[in-house]
Amino acid sequence: MEKYIDETKQGEAIALAERPENGKKLFLESYGCQMNFSDSEIVASILNDQGYNTTKVLEEADLILLNTCAIRDKAEQTVRMRLSQFKTLKKEKPSLTVGVLGCMAERLKTKFLEEEQLVDLVVGPDAYRDLPNLLKETDDGRDAINVILSKEETYADINPVRLGGNGVTSFVTITRGCDNMCTFCVVPFTRGRERSRDPHSIIEECKNLAENGYKEIMLLGQNVDSYLWFGGGPKKDFKKASEMQQSTAISFSQLLEMVAIAVPNLRIRFSTSNPHDMTEDVFHMMAKYKNICNYCHLPVQSGSDVILEKMNRQHTRAEYLHLINRAKEIVPGISFSQDLIIGFCGETEEDHQLTLSLMREVGFDYGYMFSYSERPGTPAHKKFEDDISAEEKQRRLAEVIALQGELSRKRMEGYVGRNHEVLIEGISKKNKNQWKGRISENAMCVFDMQPGQKLGDFVQVYVHGNTQGTLLGETV
Ligand code: SAH
Ligand code: F3S
Repeated sequence: MEKYIDETKQGEAIALAERPENGKKLFLESYGCQMNFSDSEIVASILNDQGYNTTKVLEEADLILLNTCAIRDKAEQTVRMRLSQFKTLKKEKPSLTVGVLGCMAERLKTKFLEEEQLVDLVVGPDAYRDLPNLLKETDDGRDAINVILSKEETYADINPVRLGGNGVTSFVTITRGCDNMCTFCVVPFTRGRERSRDPHSIIEECKNLAENGYKEIMLLGQNVDSYLWFGGGPKKDFKKASEMQQSTAISFSQLLEMVAIAVPNLRIRFSTSNPHDMTEDVFHMMAKYKNICNYCHLPVQSGSDVILEKMNRQHTRAEYLHLINRAKEIVPGISFSQDLIIGFCGETEEDHQLTLSLMREVGFDYGYMFSYSERPGTPAHKKFEDDISAEEKQRRLAEVIALQGELSRKRMEGYVGRNHEVLIEGISKKNKNQWKGRISENAMCVFDMQPGQKLGDFVQVYVHGNTQGTLLGETV
């Protein structure tokens, strides 16, 4: 599970409004991070123009697509399991096409076609424009593959069809790929070079969302803080750009300001930030514009300098803490969440204790914690030994999760006894008579529905209690 993609949405098939002229049926499931879910909206948009309506009924499908994740071994196992469930379907309906999209497609390439006999189509994250051609090949009975990574592709001109969302919050992709090369991470290999999307098309999309009733956008990228627009092309070519291009380049904090001004009635969030690229001016923008939420997801991975160095995170524990403390000064009350990798190569008990103490020092609202999973071909796989036993990883992970639970509860308690602005995002899962929505600091809040309130309203809620992860309130 990754940030903000509800566990229950993992592997959920998407459903679009029907186009009566479309005769074929697409079953599209997404796994992994927000970027995959956002990409699926692009895929659906492309295929919608190619005669496909979506279906949530597998048996009806002419085309099954899985948008896959390769970040950890377990994510890949989930996809393999899912694929095996399509065997009988394919036997009964030989014309059925099964395709694999996304990071696992990119990582395994033709191996997928060799290993999984029922897969007909393999498409990497930068090749979705080629889907219509690839589908012509599969229609002719041939396997089709395109895993070419691009330095330019940002799908800027494709208007994504918003999938199965709540009509209130939406993703807007601003960068693709990653140039950071953290040693444990497969993303630079599956999503290619980092590139930024034209700010004008970003603003256009945000305005369009506002006009269509959306109330919150999440600016998306593997590493949003390294956003840099100077007229197209990968960031590493910035030095080669003309003087004019360099002097008019747009940074992430400038983009954030442009968006905040362009859609003043929309809440703005962003993810993921990288401590190495994050700068204080982003927090100054947060303080300056009320519609930029007081929340930052800032993965740290480890609290030990030895491990951070081996991970090639390019910052120290002290630098991370300094950034957090500056942010807390600039934006009083700001909340943070983390990503942590437990049991990385050579992690000692002392390193583990440093992770625990860093967590306490920051006081994260929330966290995403995983045991290290070795990924073939990554620098860590080549250079280091995955030498922490599964049992030891599990023990340390349990400690980290337990501590995060305590910290979350403490942070939630800090929101009690005050009014907060909440955006109504949906109906509470536990109680049909309650709304759910988040405060600016991203904590989820539930409260009784009042007459006249509707989805997408901003309401003032008095928070009177909390659980470990949720605020309990009533509208004022
Ligand atoms: N761009 C983001 C990370 C994207 S991957 C960043 O800068 O941090 C999302 C999270 O998955 C990472 O933050 C990391 O905590 C986790 N992750 C990545 N590779 C992993 C691996 N090999 N094993 C376990 N967790 C991993
Ligand atoms: Fe992965 Fe590090 Fe990039 S975690 S996505 S290589 S910032």
